Amino acid sequence: MYRLIKKILFLIDAETTHNGTIKLLKITQHYTIIHKLLKKLFVIDSPLLENDIHGIKFKNPIGLAAGFDKSGEVAYILQSIGFGHIEIGGVTPFPQDGNQKPRLFRLKEDQAIINRMGFNNNGMEQIFLNYKKFKFQIPVGINVGVNKNTTDRIDDYVRVIDLFSDNVPYYTINISSPNTEGLQDFHNLEMLKRLINKLKELKNIKNLEVPIFIKITSDISYNSLDKILPTIDSFFDGIIVSNTTQSREGLISKYSSENGGLSGKPLYERNLEMIKYIYPKVSRNLVIIGTGGISNSDDVIKMITAGASFVQIYTSLVYSGPSIVKTINQDLIHYMQDKKYSSIRQMIGSIYNSNIDNN
Ligand SMILES: Cc1cc2nc3c(=O)[nH]c(=O)nc-3n(C[C@H](O)[C@H](O)[C@H](O)COP(=O)(O)O)c2cc1C
Repeated sequence: MYRLIKKILFLIDAETTHNGTIKLLKITQHYTIIHKLLKKLFVIDSPLLENDIHGIKFKNPIGLAAGFDKSGEVAYILQSIGFGHIEIGGVTPFPQDGNQKPRLFRLKEDQAIINRMGFNNNGMEQIFLNYKKFKFQIPVGINVGVNKNTTDRIDDYVRVIDLFSDNVPYYTINISSPNTEGLQDFHNLEMLKRLINKLKELKNIKNLEVPIFIKITSDISYNSLDKILPTIDSFFDGIIVSNTTQSREGLISKYSSENGGLSGKPLYERNLEMIKYIYPKVSRNLVIIGTGGISNSDDVIKMITAGASFVQIYTSLVYSGPSIVKTINQDLIHYMQDKKYSSIRQMIGSIYNSNIDNN
């Protein structure tokens, strides 16, 4: 069914399709009957898939990555297609339009997307009001970004967290979007330490215990990563591996030379490798969240057994449709039953216990 819908949707420009989808979801989310129908179609409940991480209860390990619901307008209905969690944002202190259009491109032959959206969102005040209207049944975390013209980027991160405070299950500090110039400078140790100091201050003043994750770029070298990993480990509760990449290796689609961040299939192998690199080097307090190019249960299994506690998807939702969440969760249950895993927790990093590389 989605194949047919996709054929039509892909005739229309990518951002128009996205905005149309958001509008449709916004309208339909007010109808209980639609939620019931979607849940019947898409939601898989199983105790096997549940996990509790830093006090956050996940019904399954498949989350929606940041950037789909930039302003938290449709997270409420997105719950009904079976995600274990949703990340909204990037949220910035002030509303902003983002970069000039066109800024979103489908690379069909590569099962990928290039975007240079530039943190278009309704701004924290509006998003907070919206967020508070809903009673979410799954964790809906906040991805925090910075305004393009801000004079103090650290202050932007702090302001968003200060406003949402302990009303959310977790925050992600996004230091890795390639579409805000200089943002990735926070991968530099000195800047990272300055950011952490301010976040520590805020946590102390507000007595805030909400877990904070950091989202990194896969374009970082292992040498540079080694320099910041201990510092990341000492403060953050999770590390998201990773944001979109600026690499264009191996692409064949006509849009491959567009500027921006690449997402989708081409990211997967590098990100899996990064998880394998990071997991043995960090404490078990720093959970790893795998994202980038995940398109089936095999991809998820490899990331979890390599050390990811849970995963996030975006681009494969565009290419495969909403049923991808159910398919992955169903396949995951079969795999767990087959391999006699009694929980996701048991699977995390299991390749290191058995010396069997599931890759
Ligand atoms: C159109 C678009 C917008 C995105 N916006 C954000 C964002 O605001 N903040 C963020 O941390 N990541 C953002 N991302 C990155 C995704 O959250 C994710 O890390 C990346 O797409 C890799 O996952 P995927 O291959 O499953 O799409 C965006 C991705 C896309 C495609």
